[in-house]
Amino acid sequence: MLPSLSSVVSPPPLPVVVPFVFVFILIVYTLSHHRKQPYKLRLPPGSMGWPYIGETLKLFTENPNSFFSDRAKRYGKIFKTHILGCPCVMISSPELAKIVLVTQSHLFKPTYPPSKEKMIGPQAIFFHQGPYHSHLKKLIQSSFLPSTIKRSVSQIEDIVLGFLPNWEHNKTINTLQEMKMYAFEVAMISVFGNKLEGEEMEGIKGLYQCLEKGYNSMPLDLPGTPFNKAMKARRGLNEKLRRIIEKRKESGENGEGLLGVFLRSNEEGMKMKMNESQIADNIIGVIFAAHDTTASVLTWLLKYLHDYPHLLDAVRREQEEIRCKRVEANRGITWEDTRRMPLTTQVIQETLRASSILSFTYREAVEDVEMEGYFIPKGWKVLPLFRTIHYSSDFFPNPNKFDPSRFQVTPRPNTYMPFGNGAHSCPGSDLAKLEMLVLLHHLTTTLRWEVIGDDDGIQYGPFPVPQHGLPIKVCPLN
Ligand code: HEM
Repeated sequence: MLPSLSSVVSPPPLPVVVPFVFVFILIVYTLSHHRKQPYKLRLPPGSMGWPYIGETLKLFTENPNSFFSDRAKRYGKIFKTHILGCPCVMISSPELAKIVLVTQSHLFKPTYPPSKEKMIGPQAIFFHQGPYHSHLKKLIQSSFLPSTIKRSVSQIEDIVLGFLPNWEHNKTINTLQEMKMYAFEVAMISVFGNKLEGEEMEGIKGLYQCLEKGYNSMPLDLPGTPFNKAMKARRGLNEKLRRIIEKRKESGENGEGLLGVFLRSNEEGMKMKMNESQIADNIIGVIFAAHDTTASVLTWLLKYLHDYPHLLDAVRREQEEIRCKRVEANRGITWEDTRRMPLTTQVIQETLRASSILSFTYREAVEDVEMEGYFIPKGWKVLPLFRTIHYSSDFFPNPNKFDPSRFQVTPRPNTYMPFGNGAHSCPGSDLAKLEMLVLLHHLTTTLRWEVIGDDDGIQYGPFPVPQHGLPIKVCPLN
């Protein structure tokens, strides 16, 4: 039977039209969003994995360290992947990391998930580039220069001497938790100049702990979720900081610490003035940057010293010599003492390399970029892989061996980046190392510690630390 005329000329049914319209829209969208890939340039080698999920599942099911190092071995110093919904280019050579972080850093802006930015505060230094970033960096750096932090040695020592008696007498402690408390107190004196009064300190500590819990949780802003509680705590912290600033203004004194530096800079006729929310975001931001990082590395220090008793003996001998001089002169530890600890310093350097707690950092290409003959499209994430570089035998022979003596020789430029590199490198590196030296001085000369259990695992939260935060049993040395 022939089809009737009406069925030939009448419009096609809807189910037939919809797919065509959809395909048409898709083609128009793709063409309008397609940027021309420069002639001859290819994307870096590597696999983008499955559509949309990319290689995310592999990253979370494999050991994250081998995920990156296996691909670096397979594809070379620059390769592409797709994780957490983002196309990424991984960089595993010192020269290319230098281009991203130092020489061409204007082409790669820092990038963080919006939820993290919201929680720390969008005006914090980490999220910015250009004149605002440079202004903040100068102020923050001036607060953490050796010439400034040397004045805090006795305050840091007082904090250590407050903690150690609680660790003694065969007590079991969780190293990570104790180190977090220590690093938090040091961060507080760095930003406020001196110890806050009991109630003020406890209030800020409580709110900060709540903020930290939410930072590491799912960004689900519903009543009762850790994220929601953290956002409330963040507002509470703003209020506490506002009151501290008000008190300082009423007393006519800007006060010490980073807060004093910020307040003074507003009076010194600088072109750029900081408003209260900019000050709050940066005070919270610095506490955030200073706290978990230092505590995680301190935890690794205790683990490595425990695992290598000959190194612990040698460190103890170095510290004992300083302690004898100190006791003879009836004084506390000084900045100059901390400059005469070559072996302990090398152990810290090697711990920073071996633990590489910041395995990589994130940037985003602000425009299409050519690198090593490859094309990096605008908007793609670019990740310099610090850990992969720290574990390359080209720069650190026998990289899996914990060997502080390798730091008797200065590492090749751009190969050792525990504190990053370039415009966004860490302004707190000297403070972090000072905290470690002061703690190790008193710890190794008065106490012994035994790690409980023989679990050599690693947990991520978010930084890699020994499993369960390294529970230890502590007792007096003699
Ligand atoms: C062992 C402890 C620490 C480690 C391993 C560490 C590591 C780092 C790294 C790798 C960066 C660069 C991130 C990037 O390029 O994206 C950085 C930035 C930063 N760190 Fe640290 N850090 C530590 C302790 C501290 C301390 C004690 C402070 C306190 C002042 C601090 C404050 C900062 C700030 C404010 C930034 C951002 C700088 C900018 O964006 O210009 N850090 N840190």
